[in-house]
Amino acid sequence: MKSANNTMTYQVYLVGGAVRDALLGLDVVDRDWVVTGAIPEQLEQQGYQQVGKQFPVFLHPVSKEEYALARREKKQGQGYTGFICDFSPSISLEEDLERRDLTINAIAQAENGELIDPFHGQQDIANKCLRHVSDAFVEDPLRVLRVARFAARFKEFNFHIAAETMRLMQTISTSGELASLSPERVWRELEKALATSHPLTFFHVLIEAKAMSYLFTELVWPKPPVSETQLLALDKAQRWAMICQHTPLEQLNRLQNALRCPNQYKNLAQQVRSFIEQHAIGMTAEAWQAWLMSVSAIKKPQAFDKLVQVLSLITSTQAKDWQALRLAIAKLNATDLIKQGFSGAELGEALRKERIKALQVLDSPLLKN
Ligand code: CTP
Repeated sequence: MKSANNTMTYQVYLVGGAVRDALLGLDVVDRDWVVTGAIPEQLEQQGYQQVGKQFPVFLHPVSKEEYALARREKKQGQGYTGFICDFSPSISLEEDLERRDLTINAIAQAENGELIDPFHGQQDIANKCLRHVSDAFVEDPLRVLRVARFAARFKEFNFHIAAETMRLMQTISTSGELASLSPERVWRELEKALATSHPLTFFHVLIEAKAMSYLFTELVWPKPPVSETQLLALDKAQRWAMICQHTPLEQLNRLQNALRCPNQYKNLAQQVRSFIEQHAIGMTAEAWQAWLMSVSAIKKPQAFDKLVQVLSLITSTQAKDWQALRLAIAKLNATDLIKQGFSGAELGEALRKERIKALQVLDSPLLKN
């Protein structure tokens, strides 16, 4: 490709996940590009907008896809920011591919469709192998999580992790470098893993890589294990709540705060665990009333739906029986009580009693007889 002023030519290659996923026959969602032989000014002149701070990444003026100048990286010091980065136009495509994590992510495709695959990623795709590209793998601790996530995502294709790659992951874990990862980056990988068809594989790989105690110190791993088939019927937040069900509340709060989990995840996991710790099937109508109000069953029917789906799995009960409890109290309304002269705190108390009565007359397997 020619630059705007025709002084220098540069080449553009499709790289990373887009090439990998196409070779696996999967839909390609994001496309990342690498540009060799260019300087930032050339791309800017053509209307690309620079977005990367640590290294030059540009957004295409029309497609808004990411174009990165080919670069070489060398780790210096701790953490994600401790890299020296060389993105001069002399950096070759092979050099750029060599700094990448896995061979299956280090295949490039030229504009004419030709594949450039110096690290035999296609062979590893054929052999269903997640293998590191070079020893530089250990320079980025996030890769422990990435490999675990790819193992979860590609489990359906029967991918395994190369023994040497697993050893490098263990080396990263025991080096303590995982502590340098920001909570946001850890959460992003975890959330993506929860969306795969084998979310438990993500954790199993992290256990084998000795990373769990560094990443999720507080998490009490469920024993007996959660059923993956059950997880598949649930959304990401519900899956997380299932995985956290054995973690005591205080620990769970610390874990979720440390990970900066979004509220939707946090609340559901807390509600599930606090039911397990503080309530039980067969409670009195009074206790059910208090619980239903504490989880805003009437005001937040959708969140309640999600909660009871999880709790019914954990307690081997039927979601419809939990829904019946909600319906019994949701259909009561305050108008009659107001007509009878109730107001303020007295109205609240009268309503509470009405709700308890409505629950008492229910023929429910969840209620104490
Ligand atoms: N990459 C890497 N090390 C990282 C992050 C990214 O080597 N810690 C490289 C890999 O070559 C990866 C590419 O950058 O394929 C793009 O990264 P990203 O978009 O995060 O992941 P994808 O591999 O595209 O996978 P997906 O989008 O499915 O998560």
